[in-house]
Amino acid sequence: MAVRVRRRDFLKLLGGVGVVAAVGGMVPPLVRYVVPPVLKGEMPRSQLVWEDCRTPVKASELKPNTNYIFYYPLVDTPNILLKLETPDGRPVRIPEIKVPATMNAALEPPAWLDGSVDQEELKVAERISTSPTFYTYPGGVGKDGNIIAYSAICQHLGCPYPALKYYPPGTPTPPTNPPEVGARGGVMHCLCHGSAYDPARGAIVLTPPTVKPQPYIKLEWDPATDELYAVDVIGPTILGKVCNTCGKTVGPRIPVAEEREPEKPTC
Ligand code: FES
Repeated sequence: MAVRVRRRDFLKLLGGVGVVAAVGGMVPPLVRYVVPPVLKGEMPRSQLVWEDCRTPVKASELKPNTNYIFYYPLVDTPNILLKLETPDGRPVRIPEIKVPATMNAALEPPAWLDGSVDQEELKVAERISTSPTFYTYPGGVGKDGNIIAYSAICQHLGCPYPALKYYPPGTPTPPTNPPEVGARGGVMHCLCHGSAYDPARGAIVLTPPTVKPQPYIKLEWDPATDELYAVDVIGPTILGKVCNTCGKTVGPRIPVAEEREPEKPTC
């Protein structure tokens, strides 16, 4: 038997469906507004170039003990590129090291100012560990294995370069606790609360309050061309990020600037 629907009821029903559809349609954009999507990209492979975006950075051209800054893997995550040399001009081969995810501070000066890092000095990382998790940082690249890069965003509370920067040998940091740690330079030090890291031993913590090492930016060096590429991040997640590729990643070439941030983060 056919059911007869009065015209007035039919219009009411139609109106109700319309309201539900309209409200339902507003939900996804509302959710996207309240909870913005996390854009997770691929880890880029990016060549280091100078700020003209064309000239490759050659490993042999880098000045020793100088802060070079570049952005990687995101357009808002700066890093420090270093080439370690002793004050009398000897390259310091930076060894592979197992770095604990969290640690107490070593409370000692950096290990490499005499020109090398020995096995005993590497073992400090295990002794100060407070974590069962270790990262393997592969060490330095280039002809002498003395070129390395770390995140320039401090793992304590996120102060970026230039608050966090490298002080070359002979340039004392602002006072550290204990004072001898930064007295001869050769450390990465954060002005915000005094954390210091050893660049030749996987950026382990030398002075508190930080308890985490700096993320290691994995570099590749092409011995045929002497050119450098940033290819990965190892270690803790860059401070302030949900993941190391959550956001806008850099392109295939990234500009490098000496003792300052590059004018643009990517080419
Ligand atoms: S943010 Fe670097 S020591 Fe606190």
